[in-house]
Amino acid sequence: MTALHGAPDWYKDVIIYEIPVKSFFDKNHDGVGDFPGLIEKLDYIKDLGVTALWLLPFTDSPLRDDGYDIRDYTTIHPSYGSMDDVRRFIDKAHDLGLRVISELVLNHTSRTHPWFVSAASSRSSPYRDYYVWSDTPEKYRGTRIIFSDTEKSNWTWEPRTRQYYWHRFFHHQPDLNFENPKVQEELLKVVKFWFGLGVDGLRCDAVPYLFEREGTSCENLPETHTFMKRLRAEVDREFPDRMLLAEANQWPQDVLPYFGEGDEFHMAYHFPLMPRLFIAIAKSDNRPIIDILDQTPKIPSACQWAIFLRNHDELTLEMVNDQERDYLWSTYAQDPRMRLNIGIRRRLAPLMQNDRRKIDLMHSLLLTLPGTPILYYGDEIGMGDNVHLGDRNGVRTPMQWSSDKNGGFSRANPSDLYSPVIQNPIYGYQVVNVENQARFPTSPLNTLRQMIAVRQSARLFGRGELHFLHSKNRSILAYFREMGKDVALIINNLSDRAESVTLDLSRYRGYSIVEMFDKTPFPLIARARFHFTLSPYGFFWLSLIPPARTQRNHARAASSASHPERRLIDS
Ligand code: NOJ
Repeated sequence: MTALHGAPDWYKDVIIYEIPVKSFFDKNHDGVGDFPGLIEKLDYIKDLGVTALWLLPFTDSPLRDDGYDIRDYTTIHPSYGSMDDVRRFIDKAHDLGLRVISELVLNHTSRTHPWFVSAASSRSSPYRDYYVWSDTPEKYRGTRIIFSDTEKSNWTWEPRTRQYYWHRFFHHQPDLNFENPKVQEELLKVVKFWFGLGVDGLRCDAVPYLFEREGTSCENLPETHTFMKRLRAEVDREFPDRMLLAEANQWPQDVLPYFGEGDEFHMAYHFPLMPRLFIAIAKSDNRPIIDILDQTPKIPSACQWAIFLRNHDELTLEMVNDQERDYLWSTYAQDPRMRLNIGIRRRLAPLMQNDRRKIDLMHSLLLTLPGTPILYYGDEIGMGDNVHLGDRNGVRTPMQWSSDKNGGFSRANPSDLYSPVIQNPIYGYQVVNVENQARFPTSPLNTLRQMIAVRQSARLFGRGELHFLHSKNRSILAYFREMGKDVALIINNLSDRAESVTLDLSRYRGYSIVEMFDKTPFPLIARARFHFTLSPYGFFWLSLIPPARTQRNHARAASSASHPERRLIDS
């Protein structure tokens, strides 16, 4: 097993690429993506410029919730390969400098997990207390139902032992009973197993729901934090350079305790920011973004937000008010089939009406706002979705590699694929695929590659402070990202019209401005007020260079003019 060295807080500098193994590349031609296929495509991932991979669940499961219904925590699902394949995958990823993040599904198992099979067979099973049972479905009535489209209650009747069992998600996913110390021990063993195997991080699924208590919403209970602190302490003792990421779909003030005092999670998703990015671009209004980030508390210095546009789930609308939800539904999900639970099951490109300018702008926001960005596989080429597939399957279709059969994903018979490939005239694999886009410098893929490279050239994006610049023009979202002497000024035009804006740059008077993509010099900041003009949905990423450094750069430029070989090295 190879390990990756580097800063212990490496998670602040990475860009994460999220992949379901089954969707990426099928090496053994059975219609399902697998680890050998993923290994083959690691060079593509490396080339994209991302530096960490987050894999969706890949252990044994009946796959009724795509692997989040765990039948075995440490055996690889046979469709995806073997444990040796996983080891080879981790090694090759590490050789390429890519971190690996996998899933830790703490809250529940599948009903087919041997623990539950035993627990449900007899009240005297040694595993009975691994789950939460009740004679009545009236307990914990203050708890919301998450999968509201499919589940009517968080309790399901188990006829053999004549009691109800508790589940926050599908009825076939019973919740584990974290009051039981044995359950805690079992899950700690799982954590150590995966870190022992070499994964760099664990994305901890559904953490707010581990414990239940009458009279509460059964979310974010103090007991959860006690357990997570214990888990973190054990991780720090045995695996000090690893990362824990919390999936807690909550308001920032409720997520804050998951960071503890730097002694709980290293990272947590910023769920409320995501829908506000979609509101802001639809309304050409910077306020939703500014408001939510202004309300976001400071987090401990070793901690980091994870930010994202889309993922494998529906675009969740839990962290908006009713008015905002109605707006998002009417703007982005006119067709009722696009809606699921409290969310929208669509991919980024269709949400942006396939408007390249909007897709690029969303990526500009994702890559420059504070936090570690997560990209969802396929969004880099603008893949479409399929609302005819059930549940969230429409955003989990095979990766589109080329215009060959099955989009180059698999050589299996199309009817044997785990899911149909996207086939329509706009997003179909014949049009939207990696091979086509690799050929053109301005394709979505190559544009995003370039944006990623620029972001990765400046650590301030992952680590710097954020300061908004205010102006009269609410279509413009402008901010400084600052880390020590390094400063970037980011200006995004959220509107479909050319916009002009005057910004107060007095804080950096005397600095010079260099555009970050082409290194084009802009005028010096001689006056406090600086005027910019942006094309529809345009954006600028500008580096601000302090006066002393500017002089040094000029001197260096002059000397490299007479030493052309040095110019190559400097640039
Ligand atoms: C959150 C995961 O993202 C989702 O896909 C899953 O269905 C639920 N947790 C239940 O595990």
